[in-house]
Amino acid sequence: MQDAFQQLAQGLIVALKTVSSESELEAVRVEFLGRKGKLAEAMAGLKDLGAEARRETGKAANEAKMAMERLFASAEDRVKSARLGRLAEAEWVDLSLPGTSPREGHLHIVSQTIIEVEQIFNRIGFTRHHVPEIDWDYYAFEALNMPQDHPARDNWETYFMDAPEGEKGKMVATPHPSNDQVRLMEKLEPPFKALYIGKAYRRQSDVSHVPIHHQFETECISHDATFSELKGVIEFFVHEYFGRERKVRLRPHHFRFTEPSFEIDISCAICGGAACRLCKEGWLELAGAGLTHPNVIRAGGLDPNEWRGFAFAFGVERVLMMREGIRLPDMRDLYKNDLRFLEQF
Ligand code: DAH
Repeated sequence: MQDAFQQLAQGLIVALKTVSSESELEAVRVEFLGRKGKLAEAMAGLKDLGAEARRETGKAANEAKMAMERLFASAEDRVKSARLGRLAEAEWVDLSLPGTSPREGHLHIVSQTIIEVEQIFNRIGFTRHHVPEIDWDYYAFEALNMPQDHPARDNWETYFMDAPEGEKGKMVATPHPSNDQVRLMEKLEPPFKALYIGKAYRRQSDVSHVPIHHQFETECISHDATFSELKGVIEFFVHEYFGRERKVRLRPHHFRFTEPSFEIDISCAICGGAACRLCKEGWLELAGAGLTHPNVIRAGGLDPNEWRGFAFAFGVERVLMMREGIRLPDMRDLYKNDLRFLEQF
Protein backbone atom coordinates (compact mmCIF):
# COMPACT_ATOMS: atom_id res chain seq x y z
CA MET A 1 0.00 0.00 0.00
CA GLN A 2 2.84 2.41 0.86
CA ASP A 3 4.37 1.65 -2.54
CA ALA A 4 1.10 2.57 -4.18
CA PHE A 5 1.43 6.11 -2.84
CA GLN A 6 5.02 6.38 -4.04
CA GLN A 7 3.96 5.18 -7.47
CA LEU A 8 1.24 7.82 -7.55
CA ALA A 9 3.85 10.51 -6.86
CA GLN A 10 6.06 9.04 -9.61
CA GLY A 11 3.09 9.03 -11.99
CA LEU A 12 2.44 12.70 -11.20
CA ILE A 13 6.08 13.61 -11.90
CA VAL A 14 5.83 11.95 -15.34
CA ALA A 15 2.47 13.53 -16.16
CA LEU A 16 3.65 17.03 -15.17
CA LYS A 17 6.77 16.79 -17.33
CA THR A 18 4.87 17.20 -20.61
CA VAL A 19 2.39 19.76 -19.36
CA SER A 20 2.77 23.12 -21.13
CA SER A 21 -0.51 24.97 -20.74
CA GLU A 22 -2.86 25.85 -17.92
CA SER A 23 -5.64 23.65 -19.32
CA GLU A 24 -3.33 20.59 -19.45
CA LEU A 25 -2.25 21.36 -15.91
CA GLU A 26 -5.86 21.44 -14.77
CA ALA A 27 -6.50 18.04 -16.40
CA VAL A 28 -3.53 16.55 -14.49
CA ARG A 29 -4.78 18.10 -11.24
CA VAL A 30 -8.22 16.56 -11.68
CA GLU A 31 -6.67 13.16 -12.56
CA PHE A 32 -4.33 12.98 -9.54
CA LEU A 33 -5.45 15.47 -6.91
CA GLY A 34 -9.16 15.97 -7.70
CA ARG A 35 -11.98 14.93 -5.41
CA LYS A 36 -12.44 11.72 -7.38
CA GLY A 37 -8.80 11.54 -8.50
CA LYS A 38 -6.21 8.83 -8.02
CA LEU A 39 -4.96 10.11 -4.65
CA ALA A 40 -8.47 10.33 -3.22
CA GLU A 41 -9.16 6.81 -4.46
CA ALA A 42 -6.00 5.43 -2.82
CA MET A 43 -6.78 7.31 0.41
CA ALA A 44 -10.23 5.71 0.46
CA GLY A 45 -8.52 2.26 0.57
CA LEU A 46 -6.94 3.13 3.94
CA LYS A 47 -10.11 2.50 5.84
CA ASP A 48 -9.93 -1.25 5.00
CA LEU A 49 -6.58 -1.64 6.82
CA GLY A 50 -6.11 -2.74 10.40
CA ALA A 51 -5.44 0.00 12.98
CA GLU A 52 -1.64 -0.53 13.09
CA ALA A 53 -1.18 -0.67 9.29
CA ARG A 54 -3.54 2.29 8.83
CA ARG A 55 -1.35 4.49 11.06
CA GLU A 56 1.83 3.50 9.22
CA THR A 57 0.38 3.74 5.75
CA GLY A 58 -1.60 6.88 6.62
CA LYS A 59 1.66 8.63 7.52
CA ALA A 60 3.23 7.62 4.18
CA ALA A 61 0.03 8.65 2.38
CA ASN A 62 0.13 12.12 3.94
CA GLU A 63 3.79 12.58 3.04
CA ALA A 64 3.03 11.48 -0.54
CA LYS A 65 0.07 13.89 -0.66
CA MET A 66 2.20 16.84 0.49
CA ALA A 67 4.96 15.92 -1.94
CA MET A 68 2.44 15.73 -4.77
CA GLU A 69 1.00 19.13 -3.89
CA ARG A 70 4.50 20.65 -3.91
CA LEU A 71 5.21 19.04 -7.30
CA PHE A 72 1.99 20.43 -8.61
CA ALA A 73 2.64 23.94 -7.27
CA SER A 74 6.06 24.10 -8.89
CA ALA A 75 4.65 22.86 -12.23
CA GLU A 76 2.01 25.58 -11.92
CA ASP A 77 4.74 28.23 -11.45
CA ARG A 78 6.63 26.94 -14.47
CA VAL A 79 3.56 27.04 -16.76
CA LYS A 80 2.57 30.50 -15.54
CA SER A 81 5.97 32.09 -16.03
CA ALA A 82 6.26 30.51 -19.49
CA ARG A 83 2.95 32.16 -20.44
CA LEU A 84 4.11 35.56 -19.14
CA GLY A 85 7.37 35.14 -21.03
CA ARG A 86 5.48 34.59 -24.29
CA LEU A 87 3.27 37.59 -23.58
CA ALA A 88 6.24 39.83 -22.91
CA GLU A 89 7.81 38.74 -26.16
CA ALA A 90 4.65 39.35 -28.18
CA GLU A 91 3.92 42.71 -26.62
CA TRP A 92 7.40 44.01 -26.23
CA VAL A 93 7.69 47.77 -26.48
CA ASP A 94 10.89 49.77 -26.78
CA LEU A 95 10.13 52.82 -24.71
CA SER A 96 13.30 54.55 -25.85
CA LEU A 97 12.11 54.78 -29.48
CA PRO A 98 10.85 58.19 -30.63
CA GLY A 99 7.05 58.31 -30.98
CA THR A 100 5.12 58.76 -34.22
CA SER A 101 4.00 62.35 -34.20
CA PRO A 102 0.77 63.27 -36.00
CA ARG A 103 1.18 64.86 -39.45
CA GLU A 104 0.91 68.60 -39.08
CA GLY A 105 -0.39 70.77 -41.87
CA HIS A 106 0.49 74.39 -42.54
CA LEU A 107 -0.99 77.32 -44.39
CA HIS A 108 -0.67 77.41 -48.18
CA ILE A 109 2.07 79.79 -49.30
CA VAL A 110 -0.53 82.15 -50.83
CA SER A 111 -2.30 82.41 -47.44
CA GLN A 112 1.06 82.97 -45.73
CA THR A 113 1.81 85.79 -48.16
CA ILE A 114 -1.59 87.40 -47.61
CA ILE A 115 -0.97 87.48 -43.84
CA GLU A 116 2.49 88.95 -44.32
CA VAL A 117 1.23 91.63 -46.72
CA GLU A 118 -1.49 92.65 -44.30
CA GLN A 119 1.08 92.99 -41.49
CA ILE A 120 3.33 95.19 -43.64
CA PHE A 121 0.50 97.59 -44.49
CA ASN A 122 -0.79 97.62 -40.91
CA ARG A 123 2.56 99.11 -39.89
CA ILE A 124 1.85 102.26 -41.94
CA GLY A 125 -1.77 102.64 -40.90
CA PHE A 126 -3.69 100.73 -43.59
CA THR A 127 -6.64 98.72 -42.29
CA ARG A 128 -7.99 95.67 -44.09
CA HIS A 129 -11.56 95.68 -45.37
CA HIS A 130 -13.73 93.22 -47.25
CA VAL A 131 -15.98 93.78 -50.26
CA PRO A 132 -17.90 91.25 -52.43
CA GLU A 133 -16.09 88.97 -54.87
CA ILE A 134 -19.23 88.54 -56.93
CA ASP A 135 -20.25 92.10 -57.64
CA TRP A 136 -22.21 94.32 -59.97
CA ASP A 137 -20.75 95.41 -63.28
CA TYR A 138 -21.16 98.94 -61.91
CA TYR A 139 -18.47 98.51 -59.20
CA ALA A 140 -16.13 96.47 -61.39
CA PHE A 141 -16.27 98.81 -64.40
CA GLU A 142 -18.80 101.57 -64.66
CA ALA A 143 -17.96 103.42 -61.43
CA LEU A 144 -14.31 103.04 -62.41
CA ASN A 145 -14.84 105.31 -65.38
CA MET A 146 -15.42 102.46 -67.84
CA PRO A 147 -18.92 102.93 -69.24
CA GLN A 148 -20.81 100.09 -70.96
CA ASP A 149 -19.15 99.05 -74.23
CA HIS A 150 -15.93 100.96 -73.45
CA PRO A 151 -13.06 99.11 -75.19
CA ALA A 152 -10.84 99.38 -72.06
CA ARG A 153 -13.03 96.68 -70.51
CA ASP A 154 -11.53 94.14 -72.92
CA ASN A 155 -8.34 94.03 -70.82
CA TRP A 156 -10.25 92.23 -68.06
CA GLU A 157 -11.23 88.89 -69.51
CA THR A 158 -14.36 88.83 -67.44
CA TYR A 159 -16.69 86.05 -66.30
CA PHE A 160 -20.25 87.39 -66.29
CA MET A 161 -22.66 85.57 -64.01
CA ASP A 162 -25.68 83.83 -65.42
CA ALA A 163 -27.98 85.81 -63.08
CA PRO A 164 -30.71 88.40 -63.54
CA GLU A 165 -29.51 91.97 -64.12
CA GLY A 166 -30.07 94.46 -61.34
CA GLU A 167 -30.11 98.24 -61.12
CA LYS A 168 -26.32 98.18 -61.21
CA GLY A 169 -26.07 95.96 -64.27
CA LYS A 170 -24.93 92.37 -64.65
CA MET A 171 -23.15 90.41 -61.94
CA VAL A 172 -19.49 89.55 -62.50
CA ALA A 173 -16.90 87.39 -60.78
CA THR A 174 -14.67 90.38 -59.99
CA PRO A 175 -11.96 90.52 -62.68
CA HIS A 176 -9.97 92.79 -60.35
CA PRO A 177 -10.39 93.81 -56.72
CA SER A 178 -10.63 97.46 -57.79
CA ASN A 179 -14.35 97.13 -57.16
CA ASP A 180 -13.27 98.07 -53.63
CA GLN A 181 -12.53 101.65 -54.67
CA VAL A 182 -16.07 103.02 -54.92
CA ARG A 183 -17.50 100.51 -52.45
CA LEU A 184 -15.07 101.68 -49.74
CA MET A 185 -15.72 105.34 -50.48
CA GLU A 186 -19.41 104.60 -49.98
CA LYS A 187 -18.73 102.69 -46.76
CA LEU A 188 -15.97 104.59 -44.95
CA GLU A 189 -15.72 108.11 -43.63
CA PRO A 190 -12.83 109.93 -45.39
CA PRO A 191 -9.93 110.40 -44.88
CA PHE A 192 -8.96 106.70 -44.81
CA LYS A 193 -6.18 104.32 -45.72
CA ALA A 194 -7.68 100.97 -46.69
CA LEU A 195 -6.32 97.63 -47.77
CA TYR A 196 -8.40 95.05 -49.60
CA ILE A 197 -7.10 91.58 -50.50
CA GLY A 198 -9.38 89.90 -52.99
CA LYS A 199 -9.57 87.57 -55.95
CA ALA A 200 -9.34 88.42 -59.62
CA TYR A 201 -11.19 86.01 -61.89
CA ARG A 202 -9.97 86.14 -65.47
CA ARG A 203 -10.02 83.82 -68.44
CA GLN A 204 -6.26 83.24 -68.58
CA SER A 205 -3.77 80.49 -67.76
CA ASP A 206 -0.05 80.30 -68.59
CA VAL A 207 3.31 80.33 -66.74
CA SER A 208 2.59 83.72 -65.22
CA HIS A 209 -1.24 83.63 -64.99
CA VAL A 210 -3.88 81.52 -63.28
CA PRO A 211 -7.66 81.81 -63.81
CA ILE A 212 -8.16 83.02 -60.23
CA HIS A 213 -5.37 85.06 -58.70
CA HIS A 214 -5.21 87.30 -55.65
CA GLN A 215 -4.40 90.98 -55.49
CA PHE A 216 -3.91 93.34 -52.62
CA GLU A 217 -5.26 96.75 -53.38
CA THR A 218 -4.75 99.91 -51.37
CA GLU A 219 -6.93 102.96 -51.41
CA CYS A 220 -5.95 106.16 -49.69
CA ILE A 221 -8.41 109.06 -49.68
CA SER A 222 -7.44 112.38 -48.11
CA HIS A 223 -7.49 116.10 -48.78
CA ASP A 224 -3.91 116.08 -49.97
CA ALA A 225 -2.96 112.63 -51.34
CA THR A 226 0.05 113.09 -53.64
CA PHE A 227 2.05 111.15 -56.16
CA SER A 228 5.12 111.21 -53.90
CA GLU A 229 3.07 109.75 -51.04
CA LEU A 230 1.94 106.95 -53.35
CA LYS A 231 5.53 106.29 -54.42
CA GLY A 232 6.64 106.27 -50.78
CA VAL A 233 4.03 103.65 -49.84
CA ILE A 234 5.01 101.44 -52.79
CA GLU A 235 8.70 101.72 -51.89
CA PHE A 236 7.95 100.90 -48.27
CA PHE A 237 6.17 97.71 -49.31
CA VAL A 238 8.87 96.70 -51.80
CA HIS A 239 11.67 97.25 -49.28
CA GLU A 240 9.83 95.42 -46.50
CA TYR A 241 8.80 92.46 -48.60
CA PHE A 242 11.61 92.02 -51.13
CA GLY A 243 14.51 93.72 -49.40
CA ARG A 244 16.32 96.95 -50.17
CA GLU A 245 18.47 95.63 -52.98
CA ARG A 246 15.69 94.69 -55.44
CA LYS A 247 15.19 97.09 -58.35
CA VAL A 248 11.78 98.62 -59.02
CA ARG A 249 10.73 100.70 -61.99
CA LEU A 250 7.62 102.77 -62.62
CA ARG A 251 6.38 102.67 -66.21
CA PRO A 252 3.78 105.13 -67.49
CA HIS A 253 0.53 103.36 -68.34
CA HIS A 254 -3.11 104.05 -68.84
CA PHE A 255 -5.92 103.00 -66.53
CA ARG A 256 -9.33 104.59 -66.83
CA PHE A 257 -9.67 104.93 -63.05
CA THR A 258 -6.39 106.70 -62.28
CA GLU A 259 -4.76 109.80 -63.69
CA PRO A 260 -1.80 109.73 -63.99
CA SER A 261 -1.41 105.93 -64.06
CA PHE A 262 1.58 103.65 -64.16
CA GLU A 263 2.68 100.07 -63.80
CA ILE A 264 5.29 98.88 -61.32
CA ASP A 265 7.87 96.33 -62.42
CA ILE A 266 10.48 94.53 -60.34
CA SER A 267 13.70 92.90 -61.54
CA CYS A 268 13.08 89.18 -62.07
CA ALA A 269 14.20 86.87 -59.25
CA ILE A 270 14.35 83.81 -61.50
CA CYS A 271 16.91 85.14 -64.00
CA GLY A 272 18.21 88.11 -62.01
CA GLY A 273 17.14 90.47 -64.79
CA ALA A 274 18.75 88.59 -67.71
CA ALA A 275 15.35 87.64 -69.31
CA CYS A 276 13.73 84.21 -68.99
CA ARG A 277 10.60 82.21 -69.87
CA LEU A 278 8.69 83.84 -67.02
CA CYS A 279 9.63 87.51 -67.33
CA LYS A 280 10.66 87.61 -71.01
CA GLU A 281 12.77 90.77 -70.62
CA GLY A 282 14.25 90.79 -67.12
CA TRP A 283 11.37 92.65 -65.45
CA LEU A 284 8.08 91.36 -64.16
CA GLU A 285 4.98 93.47 -63.94
CA LEU A 286 3.81 93.48 -60.33
CA ALA A 287 1.28 96.23 -59.93
CA GLY A 288 -0.89 98.93 -61.39
CA ALA A 289 -1.09 102.29 -59.64
CA GLY A 290 -2.14 105.89 -59.94
CA LEU A 291 -3.93 108.89 -58.51
CA THR A 292 -7.66 108.33 -58.33
CA HIS A 293 -9.53 109.80 -61.30
CA PRO A 294 -11.95 112.62 -60.38
CA ASN A 295 -14.85 110.65 -61.94
CA VAL A 296 -14.15 107.78 -59.54
CA ILE A 297 -14.03 110.15 -56.56
CA ARG A 298 -17.35 111.53 -57.75
CA ALA A 299 -18.83 108.01 -58.12
CA GLY A 300 -17.81 107.44 -54.50
CA GLY A 301 -20.03 110.36 -53.50
CA LEU A 302 -17.16 112.77 -52.75
CA ASP A 303 -16.27 116.13 -54.25
CA PRO A 304 -13.08 115.83 -56.34
CA ASN A 305 -12.25 119.47 -55.55
CA GLU A 306 -12.10 118.54 -51.89
CA TRP A 307 -10.84 114.96 -51.89
CA ARG A 308 -7.94 113.31 -53.63
CA GLY A 309 -6.79 109.71 -53.61
CA PHE A 310 -4.32 107.13 -54.76
CA ALA A 311 -4.67 103.43 -55.31
CA PHE A 312 -2.54 100.53 -56.40
CA ALA A 313 -2.82 96.77 -56.64
CA PHE A 314 -0.16 94.05 -56.62
CA GLY A 315 -0.69 90.40 -57.56
CA VAL A 316 -0.16 88.18 -54.49
CA GLU A 317 1.09 85.19 -56.54
CA ARG A 318 3.38 87.51 -58.49
CA VAL A 319 5.02 88.99 -55.39
CA LEU A 320 5.63 85.61 -53.82
CA MET A 321 7.10 84.26 -57.06
CA MET A 322 9.38 87.23 -57.34
CA ARG A 323 10.75 86.91 -53.87
CA GLU A 324 14.42 86.04 -53.62
CA GLY A 325 15.05 82.32 -53.16
CA ILE A 326 11.60 81.08 -54.19
CA ARG A 327 12.55 80.37 -57.83
CA LEU A 328 9.13 79.23 -58.92
CA PRO A 329 9.09 79.11 -62.72
CA ASP A 330 5.36 78.39 -63.29
CA MET A 331 2.56 80.11 -61.35
CA ARG A 332 0.16 77.23 -61.99
CA ASP A 333 2.29 74.99 -59.73
CA LEU A 334 0.81 76.89 -56.76
CA TYR A 335 -2.61 75.43 -57.44
CA LYS A 336 -1.86 71.87 -58.50
CA ASN A 337 -2.20 70.71 -54.89
CA ASP A 338 0.91 68.56 -55.12
CA LEU A 339 1.99 68.15 -51.50
CA ARG A 340 5.60 67.42 -52.49
CA PHE A 341 5.67 70.94 -53.91
CA LEU A 342 3.58 72.71 -51.26
CA GLU A 343 5.39 71.19 -48.28
CA GLN A 344 8.53 73.10 -49.27
CA PHE A 345 7.04 76.41 -48.15
N1 DAH B 1 -7.14 96.77 -61.21
C1 DAH B 1 -5.98 96.78 -62.06
C2 DAH B 1 -5.77 95.40 -62.65
O1 DAH B 1 -6.33 94.47 -62.20
C3 DAH B 1 -4.76 97.15 -61.31
C4 DAH B 1 -4.75 98.53 -60.79
C5 DAH B 1 -4.28 99.58 -61.54
C6 DAH B 1 -5.24 98.82 -59.53
C7 DAH B 1 -4.23 100.85 -61.09
C8 DAH B 1 -5.21 100.10 -59.05
C9 DAH B 1 -4.71 101.10 -59.83
O2 DAH B 1 -5.63 100.42 -57.85
O3 DAH B 1 -4.65 102.38 -59.36
O4 DAH B 1 -5.01 95.29 -63.58
